[in-house]
Amino acid sequence: MTPTREAGAADQYGVVGHPVSHSWSPFIHGMFAKSSAQHLVYRLFDITPENFRRDVLKLFTGGVRGLNVTLPHKQAAAELVNELTPRAQRAQAVNTIAFFEDTTLLGDNTDGLGLTADLERNMKIRLADKRVLILGAGGAARGVLAPLLERELRTVMIANRTPAKAQGLAAEFADMGAINGCGFSELSGPPYDLIINATSASLQGEMPLLPDGLVHDETVCYDMAYGRGPTPFTTWAKSQHAGRAVKGWGMLVEQAAESFLLWRGIRPHTEPVLEALAKDA
Ligand code: ATR
Repeated sequence: MTPTREAGAADQYGVVGHPVSHSWSPFIHGMFAKSSAQHLVYRLFDITPENFRRDVLKLFTGGVRGLNVTLPHKQAAAELVNELTPRAQRAQAVNTIAFFEDTTLLGDNTDGLGLTADLERNMKIRLADKRVLILGAGGAARGVLAPLLERELRTVMIANRTPAKAQGLAAEFADMGAINGCGFSELSGPPYDLIINATSASLQGEMPLLPDGLVHDETVCYDMAYGRGPTPFTTWAKSQHAGRAVKGWGMLVEQAAESFLLWRGIRPHTEPVLEALAKDA
């Protein structure tokens, strides 16, 4: 299968989310397109959950070749497509859709690869045997669980505002390792080696209320969210004296490169984009 192309016109791509105006994906894919000499445009599409199915199908019939999917649509996207890659099937969440000439809509999930590439390759963290806490049990958390559990972590705890969702998600991945779910107030030490914020709370400027004792001076606190300046999660991490408090720019760029590969057959170099973001963001 090859993605559909029209001779001459720039191929259309974009990211669909709600809200989506904060997204840096157009900047990142713009840099990828330039460096790999690909003729494409990449836009933001703000679509509400009620209109997701109708409006996304309209985009594809209107000529869009591929979409990234961000909150809160990752699970809805897994239901919309007619084929899932094995990793998207496992996650039941989609962050990348490709539209092929035979009208197949293929759903993929590049989030896990983006996160592990950033942790391991960019940050030089060895994940084996680590105790990991994931905050949030939505589409973002789903995408990263299998690639993390494949690293033979010691334990994974998922904590969520709605505890039953954390428990349900843990049960879905229990075949891959030691994983449990709970509510935020049920969390307790000993401190975790890695804490990943996969909630969308920071979009509302919020941070879940967590008990003390979850962080020690070597804990890496990784916020899948990103933006200029500190996030509520990185501010919390610093207040707990975490070893490192990091925003998800690296994950964003690495997952984008994998989406670009699916759409265009080329994996662009991520270093120049990471450097540009480090300067600008
Ligand atoms: P995403 O694709 O970013 O995961 P999502 O599927 O809508 O988006 O999931 C959002 C996650 O952030 C959920 O875990 C949600 O908790 P609930 O399952 O209880 O809804 C969490 N979340 C959103 N706002 C939050 C807040 N203000 N405090 C804590 N958790 C929040």
